[in-house]
Amino acid sequence: MSGSNGSPRDLKAGGSLRGRVRVPGDKSISHRALLFGAIAEGTTTIEGLLPAEDPISTAACLRSMGTTISPIQSGEIVTIEGVGLDGLQEPLEILDCGNSGTTMRLMLGLLAGRQGRHFVLTGDASLRRRPMNRVGQPLSLLGADVRGRDHGNLAPLSVQGQRLRGAVVGTPVASAQVKSAILLAALTAEGATSVIEPAPSRDHSERMLRAFGADLEVGGEMGRHILVRPGATLKGQHVVVPGDISSAAFWLVAGALVPGANITVENVGLNPTRTGILEVLDLMGASVQVLNRRDVAGEPVGDLQVSHGPLKAFQFGEEIMPRLVDEVPILSVAACFCDGESRISGAAELRVKETDRLAVMARQLKAMGADIDEDSDGLTIRGGQSLKGAELDSETDHRVAMSLAVAGLMASGDSRLSRSEAAAVSYPNFWDDLERLRC
Ligand code: S3P
Repeated sequence: MSGSNGSPRDLKAGGSLRGRVRVPGDKSISHRALLFGAIAEGTTTIEGLLPAEDPISTAACLRSMGTTISPIQSGEIVTIEGVGLDGLQEPLEILDCGNSGTTMRLMLGLLAGRQGRHFVLTGDASLRRRPMNRVGQPLSLLGADVRGRDHGNLAPLSVQGQRLRGAVVGTPVASAQVKSAILLAALTAEGATSVIEPAPSRDHSERMLRAFGADLEVGGEMGRHILVRPGATLKGQHVVVPGDISSAAFWLVAGALVPGANITVENVGLNPTRTGILEVLDLMGASVQVLNRRDVAGEPVGDLQVSHGPLKAFQFGEEIMPRLVDEVPILSVAACFCDGESRISGAAELRVKETDRLAVMARQLKAMGADIDEDSDGLTIRGGQSLKGAELDSETDHRVAMSLAVAGLMASGDSRLSRSEAAAVSYPNFWDDLERLRC
């Protein structure tokens, strides 16, 4: 089969999409459940953990430091025997974070306060290019010692565990990875730590740390101030991971774009710090219904039903960015099929993701004939023309691979996608689900 052995995958144009789909577990929540479970007392069980490459990297790092974690397999409950707040051992090996920025950044926070222990972290070629001083610099205010290339900015990184002291830390970017790294470090620091974000980022860490028993208060305008007092024991929990809205986004946009489509995405996490995609679909005039809203283990969840209809151009900028940062690639595909000129701005963060997603999406969509301009912090896309089939490349980025799959469906001719296997970083069954929904 194409795409299974490194050869390009055939993307057939045309047809429609119908049916129900359950996207895999939320990636952000999966990482956190593993990390917090590892440093809790007792057993943590995780239902719906994302069985994909990124969380598997987090689990592998934790296992190298003496945590027992059962195999991560689709549909299986994952069990973690926690080692307690200070029980992580110095690993004999380099900790390999793979492609996962969340693993590396949260690990830096987790390990900074492990007095007397030394850790080396690395990752794949993409991760070794991504900026880590956004975590190392605020952690240094607590006394952390993180070193690496480019003045501690680039992996491989070494962490010499220190006795940390609490501090008031303003994060340089609205990043949940940065915030969560500081919260993890604060758990073992001496004295309280306050984290102040420039804008609210996803709050899964705050919700889950409290559920595990951390002494954590959220305040300030829209929850931008978080106060952690160390000393509380974390206790193993049962965590239920909802479906990832960032994976659902591909079906939501496909359902809105593809003629005749009608898709229900079941069990999607609807945490308000993540639902920017729904706000933009609404601006486009897409028909999306939220059904069966409920609360599951401290996170809001629902089923999303989407169907095809005419779409209008949209604009969004910096304010909404933290709520849809991972959905910009698929929204750039959507814009190609909206009537009029769409504009995405305030998206400079996209340039330091798994790839430079502004450059990659502009390059790949231009290969299909899209009318798209790239500028320093965004994209301008004139939609309404058809795209042609082309030779495409994910450039190793999972979200680019899946976004181009949706673009390929809408093209006037067939395409081929190189490095389609990148999708497995966050959505291992994506290509199977696409085949199942096609009609
Ligand atoms: C994540 C936060 C976001 C997001 C990433 C996952 C997290 O990154 O893009 O996919 O789990 O905390 P930033 O913190 O860099 O915005």
